[in-house]
Amino acid sequence: MTAHGARMHLGVNIDHVATLRQARGVDYPDPVAAVTPCLAGGADGITAHLREDRRHIQDADMERLAAMPELHLNMEMAATNEMVAICERLRPAACCLVPEKRQELTTEGGLDVVTHRVRLESVVSRLSAAGVRVSMFIDPDVAQVEASATIGAPVVELHTGHYANLSGAAQATELARIARAAGLAAELGLIVHAGHGLTLANTPPVAAIPEISGLNIGHAIVADAVFKGLERAVADFRTVIDGARNAARDAAREGGDA
Ligand code: PXP
Repeated sequence: MTAHGARMHLGVNIDHVATLRQARGVDYPDPVAAVTPCLAGGADGITAHLREDRRHIQDADMERLAAMPELHLNMEMAATNEMVAICERLRPAACCLVPEKRQELTTEGGLDVVTHRVRLESVVSRLSAAGVRVSMFIDPDVAQVEASATIGAPVVELHTGHYANLSGAAQATELARIARAAGLAAELGLIVHAGHGLTLANTPPVAAIPEISGLNIGHAIVADAVFKGLERAVADFRTVIDGARNAARDAAREGGDA
């Protein structure tokens, strides 16, 4: 189990800086220029999704990100031959495999590792051989967690989009499902991340789950940055994440002492 006290990895997804640029077809804002304020605000790494339709991040962006010394880059991508070849060449520190549908506004559901086990196993093996740590973006589902472990993926990222769209008791039920999936994944020896749809308001309960050691957050950070700047927007997430983590650790200690 990951210690509650360990600093949680915060990966900031900068896709939507590129979305703004693409909306005008000009060369600004530059998503690569977002790296410095994100790191200054307390991000540990940068996540960027090179979509097959290139709707936001472009190949040249990914090249420049991959060339930045010391940057922990997490390349999100579909498990296609084209993307695997790009990832093998760029060798980012990490890669998160996601399902992609052309018409979707954002990544709607998790990967179906159970159904696509054979194909995904070969992609994990190729990227691992290139020195890339591969993560499977899955729904918080027991069968998907088990299948991810079976094919040798070292990391799973649990999809929090459904949780983010719910409220009240339904949201609490989904949070419990995420916590169970995280616990199972950790038992199976997987590193557990989470992300999608996280905001300052709904992040704390997810950050408090001890087995989750990393979060990837994009849309809410870029949205907040419109009003308060990127560094401040990231710093506010850092504060909320660290606060939730510390409170959960203290509560676990008190429970242990009782
Ligand atoms: N993790 C994965 C795998 C994603 O596909 C996305 C969205 O690109 C995110 C995290 C971040 O989601 P959001 O932009 O809603 O914070």
